[in-house]
Amino acid sequence: MDIRLDNKVAIVTGAASGIGLACAELIAESGAKVALVDKNAETLPGATKRVQAKGVAKGYLQDVTVTSALAPLVSRIRDEMGEIDVLVCSAGINIPQLAHEVTEENWHAVNDVNAKGLFFCNQTVAIQSMIPRKKGSIVNIGSQMSLVGGWKRANYCASKGAVLQVTRAEAVDWAPYNIRINVVAPTFVLTPLSQGMLEDPEFKEYIMGNILFHRLATLEDVASAVCFLASDEASMITGTVLPVDGGWTAK
Ligand SMILES: NC(=O)c1ccc[n+]([C@@H]2O[C@H](COP(=O)([O-])OP(=O)(O)OC[C@H]3O[C@@H](n4cnc5c(N)ncnc54)[C@H](O)[C@@H]3O)[C@@H](O)[C@H]2O)c1
Repeated sequence: MDIRLDNKVAIVTGAASGIGLACAELIAESGAKVALVDKNAETLPGATKRVQAKGVAKGYLQDVTVTSALAPLVSRIRDEMGEIDVLVCSAGINIPQLAHEVTEENWHAVNDVNAKGLFFCNQTVAIQSMIPRKKGSIVNIGSQMSLVGGWKRANYCASKGAVLQVTRAEAVDWAPYNIRINVVAPTFVLTPLSQGMLEDPEFKEYIMGNILFHRLATLEDVASAVCFLASDEASMITGTVLPVDGGWTAK
């Protein structure tokens, strides 16, 4: 199956690094125009250049937790790139702590990006571009921690559980508008987010012991799943979660 996204416009949040950047590259290569949204002013220009090498792309500097800025941002992207067919929400952070160590400040920091920022990106794009045109596909990046608990993950699990539940609720509310919305739930992938944790031998052993294939997921493993769900090939799929976890959650 050759997944194509020709003549579509996509927004990818968290697109300056890791999974978001890999998705932006594959989406551009598949034929869609890509708006890269990220809050990191240092990495966004280089990431945009990388995606421009694969197709049409433009970078937009924005922190997704600033909800008042999202409507103007999406308006600007629509003016400059066209109506939005695909939204991939990958912006996310993690502050690994044992459940009894999580502070209120860290709780808000993680949930503001992973749950609140993601939800209001979904909502803003749906309101402006998908509901009025009765079409669109949204892919939210959850985690295997949307489905199971994990060591030092209480805060992160709360936020990623929210990603899955909000996605299911949106699928119900937006089905009348022909909008599909799904979650891709990766296991560990080597990115700047996970690099520090993966350098800890004890943590690496814990991970490899849980992934049935005893290897990390690659950026391509995740980006392919995202492109499939974003594409018309997945036209009957909504409100679901696709784990890309090498079997972690099968046990
Ligand atoms: N790397 C993993 O092992 C792994 C596993 C499962 C799920 N995930 C999820 O995948 C997503 C991407 O993670 P990654 O590993 O690529 O991380 P990453 O740190 O490489 O990339 C995240 C990007 O999001 C951006 N970002 C963070 N907060 C933002 C905000 N408030 N507004 C706009 N941009 C913001 C960062 O600047 C960065 O460019 C996250 O949602 C993460 O939870 C990662």
